[in-house]
Amino acid sequence: MAIKEGKRTYLYHALFLLVCAGIFWFLWSAPPESTAKLPNDEIHSRFYPMDKKEAEKACESCHNPKGEAPLPANHPPKYRCLLCHKKVQS
Ligand code: HEC
Ligand code: HEC
Repeated sequence: MAIKEGKRTYLYHALFLLVCAGIFWFLWSAPPESTAKLPNDEIHSRFYPMDKKEAEKACESCHNPKGEAPLPANHPPKYRCLLCHKKVQS
C-alpha cells in the first residue's frame, strides 16, 4: 500500500513538471506571434492569394531604405518576410 502511495505522488510530481514545461514552452514561443501581421488593406491585399515566395519579391519595392515605407532600423534579418509577418486570418 505504502509503495503504491509513493508511486502516485511521483506521478503527480511528474505531471506538475509537465504542466510547468508546457507553460514555459507557451510563453517562450509566444513572442513571434506579436510581430505585425501583413495588413489586409488596399496595398497588401493583392499579396494574400499569391504564393509566399512570389509575393515577397514585391515587398522591398516599397519597404526599402529609400522607399515609401522603410523598415525600422532595428529590423531583424529580413529574408522571407511572410514567415514572420503572417497574413491576418479572415
Ligand atoms: C506599394 C507599396 C508596398 C508594397 C509593395 C508592400 N508594402 Fe507593406 N506597407 C506599405 C505602406 C505604405 C505601409 C504603411 C501603411 C499600412 O500599414 O498599410 C506598409 C505597412 C506594412 C507592415 C506594417 C503593418 C503594421 O501593422 O504596422 C508590414 C508588416 C508590411 N507592410 C509588410 C509587407 C510585406 C510582407 C510586403 C510584401 C508581401 C509588403 N508589405 C509590400 C507599402 C507597401
Ligand atoms: C525574422 C522575422 C522577420 C522577417 C523575416 C521580416 N520581419 Fe519585418 N519585422 C519583424 C519584427 C520582429 C519587427 C518589429 C516588431 C513588430 O513588427 O511589431 C518587424 C517590423 C517590420 C515593419 C514595421 C512594422 C511596424 O509596425 O512599424 C515592417 C513594415 C516590416 N517589418 C516589413 C518586413 C518586410 C517587407 C520583410 C521582408 C523584406 C520583413 N519585414 C521580414 C520580423 C521580421
